[in-house]
Amino acid sequence: MAKAAASDYLVEARAEDAPRALAAIAGRVRLVVTSPPYHNAIAYDSHAVDATANYRTRQTLDYARDYLPMLDRVWEACRTMLAPGGHLAINVGTVLLGGYHYPLPQDIQARLLLGEPGRWVFVRSILWNKVTAGVRRAGTAIKYGLPGYWYPNIMTEHIIVLRKPGPVRAIASDAPAEWWLPVWDLAPVPPRQIAHPAPFPEDLPHRLIRMLTLPGEVVFDPFLGAGSTAKAAFDLERVPAGTDIIAGYVANARRRLSAPSLVRRQQLRIRTIAEAAFVPQRTKSPTRHGAGNRPRARADGVR
Ligand SMILES: C[S@@+](CC[C@H](N)C(=O)[O-])C[C@H]1O[C@@H](n2cnc3c(N)ncnc32)[C@H](O)[C@@H]1O
Repeated sequence: MAKAAASDYLVEARAEDAPRALAAIAGRVRLVVTSPPYHNAIAYDSHAVDATANYRTRQTLDYARDYLPMLDRVWEACRTMLAPGGHLAINVGTVLLGGYHYPLPQDIQARLLLGEPGRWVFVRSILWNKVTAGVRRAGTAIKYGLPGYWYPNIMTEHIIVLRKPGPVRAIASDAPAEWWLPVWDLAPVPPRQIAHPAPFPEDLPHRLIRMLTLPGEVVFDPFLGAGSTAKAAFDLERVPAGTDIIAGYVANARRRLSAPSLVRRQQLRIRTIAEAAFVPQRTKSPTRHGAGNRPRARADGVR
């Protein structure tokens, strides 16, 4: 690959068209980290024109007929962009519409894995606990038939990690081992920090990039948005790539490469359960499930 400027692969294009728009790197991407556009909650084109206007308009895109097939096409484009053995990490939450939760993470995962066999290998699903995202709302008992302390908004998202079939390689990664734990506590991006309506925190791609790639490798986000993946990749000396249909977002993402990092050092650490004060110390007696917290003498006396 010829040496490229840092922002050469950040382009205005439809994600579905990435293999054509970014032909120079098709088949060379080691990792995709992305979050798809919300199905119904945000009109990105209105936001890009006027961020102060109400962009939380309801779109009429049909979930099953239009939205999921559009995502299928994007994941197929990602497969073309990935090198064999490369990873796809999709950050996504449920869709709340008309009082009903559409299980979008599960729907995406099923469509990717239950289709033609052998297209993707499931690696794991990480649960992102958006620690500060809860809002208690009055009226939930009436509207949803659930108690007032129920949180009607979406406090967790999934990060579905898949691999394109191909050689498996061991990465001599400097990523802390606890990042492989399946629950991540991460605060969302604080309000008004970034000029985009739906960024994920830079910490999220930062972790995945260190876990799954090496310096010099290409990291792609088909839904570039505020460029959080591109920025994390650039700061970690990977090659950033991305597409977005909104030219203004692509311009912002390019500018962001030279802005200060928004990685929150204190959020890069996960406290393992063993460290938490509330976990009981080793006991002498067997646990409820019979395993016990210490080796048990066998009945025949053999240890
Ligand atoms: C949830 S945001 C991504 C945010 C990004 N992960 C970040 O942290 O900044 C989704 C983005 O997808 C873009 N988008 C929507 N439909 C698209 C399409 N068909 N192709 C490319 N981009 C699209 C929107 O303009 C929006 O910026």
